[in-house]
Amino acid sequence: MKFRVRPVPRLAGSAEVPGDKSVSHRAALLGALADGATEIHGYLEAEDCLRTITAVQAMGAAVTRKGPGHYRIDGAGRHGLREPGDVIDCGNSGTAARLLLGVLAGQPFWVMLTGDESLRGRPMGRVAEPLRRMGAAIVGRSGGSKLPLAVKGTRPLRAITHDSPVASAQVKSAVLLAGLYADGPVSVTEPAPSRDHSERMLRQFGAQLVTGERSVTLMPGDLRGTTVSVPGDISSAAFLLVAATMIGDPGVTIHRVGVNPTRTGVLDVLEAMSARLRIEPAPTVDEAEPAADLRASASELKATSIGGALIPRLIDEIPVLAVAAACARGVTTIGDAAELRVKESDRIAALARELDKMGVGVQERPDGMTIAGPQRFRGARVTSGGDHRIAMALAIAGLVAEGETVIEDTACVATSFPQFAATLNTLAGTPVVLVED
Ligand code: S3P
Repeated sequence: MKFRVRPVPRLAGSAEVPGDKSVSHRAALLGALADGATEIHGYLEAEDCLRTITAVQAMGAAVTRKGPGHYRIDGAGRHGLREPGDVIDCGNSGTAARLLLGVLAGQPFWVMLTGDESLRGRPMGRVAEPLRRMGAAIVGRSGGSKLPLAVKGTRPLRAITHDSPVASAQVKSAVLLAGLYADGPVSVTEPAPSRDHSERMLRQFGAQLVTGERSVTLMPGDLRGTTVSVPGDISSAAFLLVAATMIGDPGVTIHRVGVNPTRTGVLDVLEAMSARLRIEPAPTVDEAEPAADLRASASELKATSIGGALIPRLIDEIPVLAVAAACARGVTTIGDAAELRVKESDRIAALARELDKMGVGVQERPDGMTIAGPQRFRGARVTSGGDHRIAMALAIAGLVAEGETVIEDTACVATSFPQFAATLNTLAGTPVVLVED
């Protein structure tokens, strides 16, 4: 599949983005582990999160789709999951794989986990190592650090304190999920705060946690089913916001977007770049995750520098922020972001390679990049390399390019934002992103 993208003079109106990917995965997993029923509203019906639904179904949780994004999960209970009849395929989803590893560490049966080519290349040792210390058996490729992995859990697991070398919510969440089966409190500390959806949702399901700025301790115990309302995904909204700051005349409003402070680095950076941005708190049904209506309009962007503790708060938004940086006046630097090299693709290399084809220079560094602006994008033939966020960032670049841009390999967009092209076409009032086979 490919996108044919045409430049667009204006974007206007309002849109919604689909449910938050991180929150959706967690709702399905905790719903499956809870006693009783969980109702989920706004679940992200995209490939990644549907993998997690399939996985919990395979282990005995009863899942009913009651309407678009509306699911009921009759939980199996903390001790009620059963051995699945086949390999669990996590597709492209790192969150599904790593969080499932945490759950499986506490299950007394064997499970094989695998994923697509991209996921099979991504590091799993960062999760497997602490889970092994807790007592789980995890074996597989590359010394047990790459999928496919076979996992056999045990109960109880040993309570540990894990001092994570990376600020990764997936690592933290895997250890916390395993911690539900530990023989005492389990703690995780990290070098900078990562997204805290697991902590918020575990509390919602009745778990006891003590949280500090860079640490969390969970007391093992049962979960009880609840109602979860998933806000819109700020990582999807970011593409529309950046597009609106470059061409949004009169501007674009995106409703009910999740603005958990551990995720709003992109808003801080756009403000630092002088973007015209309005953030209006939106009524939420769900106390756990704050939401807001976000409005962005055409702005004279200025360069900024992005690094340090900001990085985990916007790690998934860097591809589209790189596009914004190319349009901004001055030199933007992005550092402390070596994690970008182990996402769905090596995003530093992908941005440098593909933006170069569009006539935009990106200076690649081991842990980030430097982009001098403003530069003009030229329509070109580029490829996503199978990475959804690279595909969408290139499409946003295509909206401000001279001439037509063709982006190859865009089926991956369905992993997180299947309505991406349709949403942009509505805001443009004309087809600007054409989806072709
Ligand atoms: C996620 C955490 C981040 C993020 C990913 C989703 C999560 O990954 O990049 O898209 O839901 O916990 P890391 O934990 O590897 O930083």
